[in-house]
Amino acid sequence: MSRRPILAGNWKLNLTVRESLELASAVRDKCARHRDVDVVVAPTHLALHAVAQRLADSPVRVAAQNCHWADQGAFTGEISPAHLADAGVAWCIIGHSERRQFFGETDDGVAKKARALHDRGVLPIICVGESLDQRDAGQTLSWVTGQVKAALAELTADEAAVSVVAYEPIWAIGTGRTASPEQAQEVHAAIRATLAELYGRAIADRIRIQYGGSVKPSNVKTLMAQPDIDGALVGGASLTADSFAGIVAHRAED
Ligand code: 13P
Repeated sequence: MSRRPILAGNWKLNLTVRESLELASAVRDKCARHRDVDVVVAPTHLALHAVAQRLADSPVRVAAQNCHWADQGAFTGEISPAHLADAGVAWCIIGHSERRQFFGETDDGVAKKARALHDRGVLPIICVGESLDQRDAGQTLSWVTGQVKAALAELTADEAAVSVVAYEPIWAIGTGRTASPEQAQEVHAAIRATLAELYGRAIADRIRIQYGGSVKPSNVKTLMAQPDIDGALVGGASLTADSFAGIVAHRAED
């Protein structure tokens, strides 16, 4: 089963609107020739609309880093799936460990967001991952597959098929300590087995599972060579066009 790779840059709380536009243009220019992969960039909310306009005629798609589940209402400070769709945003990262850790995001909220995003035609990138304590306690697979089941609870099989799951071990994020390809593959395989339990093998084989956590041009190839790793969700190394393009170009011969 060959799944189209999806490489996404999560810019987190970085870059002004002007800087975001500059990086978006540079990513577009450097990645345009890689037609066999999906390329996504996730600027801050403030830069979303401008970046989506800048990339409108390019294959590079835009993601938000979070959203609320309601379309509108008395939710000060939030933005909605309807707003994202209106702004030309194709994807939305939900359940990132930084949001779970610092902003109290729960499995239940992630499930509601996934549901609401699909209602507006914005596709979720659903993040899951264990802490170092959980890994050391041997809880990785049960924890991560539990997160997957909870996040997808409100989706149909067809909706799940076009969603993306991002496995990001918390201990590998921003630490320079990447999961080994074997460690990542073990969890990706467990996630796919869980997806097969939920939706059957054919749907599970279509769902793309990204790895995230200190992905760089130098380690992306061996990660992507694993059978169940279908892409990368990249933080630090997505903040310059050269390093992100180096990740996008992982298939090109060097
Ligand atoms: P780093 O690539 O900086 O480790 O961040 C990973 C991440 O959290 C992407 O969402």
